[in-house]
Amino acid sequence: MTPAATARAHTNIALVKYWGKADTTQMLPQTSSLSLTLDQFYTDTTVQFDSALTADEVTLNDDRLSPQASGKVQRFLDLVRPDGQFARVQSTNHVPTAAGLASSASAFAALAGAASRAAGLDLTRTELSRLARHGSGSATRSIFGGFAEWTAGTDDQSSVAHPIDETVDWPIAVVALVLNAHQKKVSSRQGMQSSVDTSPFYPAWKDVVAHDLAAIRPAIATHDFQQMGEILESNAMRMHALTLSANPPFTYFNGDSLVAMQAVQDLRDAGTACYYTLDAGPNVKLFCQTKDLPKITQTMADLFGSEHVIVAHPGPGIQFLSSPA
Ligand code: PMV
Repeated sequence: MTPAATARAHTNIALVKYWGKADTTQMLPQTSSLSLTLDQFYTDTTVQFDSALTADEVTLNDDRLSPQASGKVQRFLDLVRPDGQFARVQSTNHVPTAAGLASSASAFAALAGAASRAAGLDLTRTELSRLARHGSGSATRSIFGGFAEWTAGTDDQSSVAHPIDETVDWPIAVVALVLNAHQKKVSSRQGMQSSVDTSPFYPAWKDVVAHDLAAIRPAIATHDFQQMGEILESNAMRMHALTLSANPPFTYFNGDSLVAMQAVQDLRDAGTACYYTLDAGPNVKLFCQTKDLPKITQTMADLFGSEHVIVAHPGPGIQFLSSPA
C-alpha cells in the first residue's frame, strides 16, 4: 500500500475559451485559451494505491461510483499507476449547495496532483498541467492560480498551461448565477466535437481566438477592465455561435441565461461596468469590479433569488494537503 496523497484544486472560468480538440488521443486543443482560477469552487481528492485491491474504488461526495461511472478516472489512473496497482480515490467537490458549478477542471487537476504523489512521483507544476490535460482540457489551467494561459502546442510535451498573473492584485470579482443545477444534456466533449465537425464558422473561430488572446494579454497586464470585459464577452458569444451553427444545432442557454445577459446589458447601459460569459451550461458568470458588487448582486438577487448568486474572487493554484489518517 502506498501512502495516501491529497490535493486541492480550484475551478477556473475561461475568458478566451477552449472549444475543440485537434487530437482526441493526446487531448491537444485546436487553439490556446486563457482563464481565471476562482477561490469559491474547489475539489479535494485523496488517492492511495493498494496491491490488495482488485479494482479502483472511486468515491465522489460520499457516493461510491459504479465501474461505468468511474471509467474516466480509471483511464486517468492508468497514466501513473505503480506496478499496475489499483487505487482508492476519494473526491469531494466544495461548491455551494446545488450549484451545478462542479467542474471537470478542478476534479482532474486535483486527481493529477493526488494520483501522481501517491504513485511516488514529484512532478513540477508544468508536468502536472500536462498530466491533468489528459483528464479534461480545462484542468490543464487549474494547476495555476489567477490568470493562466494554456498554450495549444503541437504534441504532448508542448501542450501545457503557464501562469500569467498568479497573485492578482486587482479588485475584480466573478458573480456566478446558478440558473440550473442539473447535469448538462450535451457534454462539452460532444458539443465541441460537433462544432469542429459541422459548424461552417469553425475556421473563423480559430482567428477569433488568436486575435482575442493577443488583445486580452495587455488588457490584463494594464488592468484595463473594460477592454478585458469586452473581449471575454464577445469571445463567449462567438463560442456559443458555434453550437447554434452546428448540424444539428444546439445551445447551452436557457431562458434565464438570456434574462441574465439582458440584465447585464441594462446595468452597463446605466453605467455599471460588468460583462458576462457562459461555458457548456446555462449558468451565467459576470466579471465585475469589487466596488460594483453590492449593486450587481442586488440586481441579480432580485431577478433570481439571493441563493442563486455566488460571489467569487481570483483563487490559488494546486495545493497539497496533509493526507487524512
Ligand atoms: O475541460 P472540458 O473538456 O470540459 O472543456 C471546457 C470547455 C469550456 O468550459 C466551455 C471552455 C473552457 O475553456 O473552459
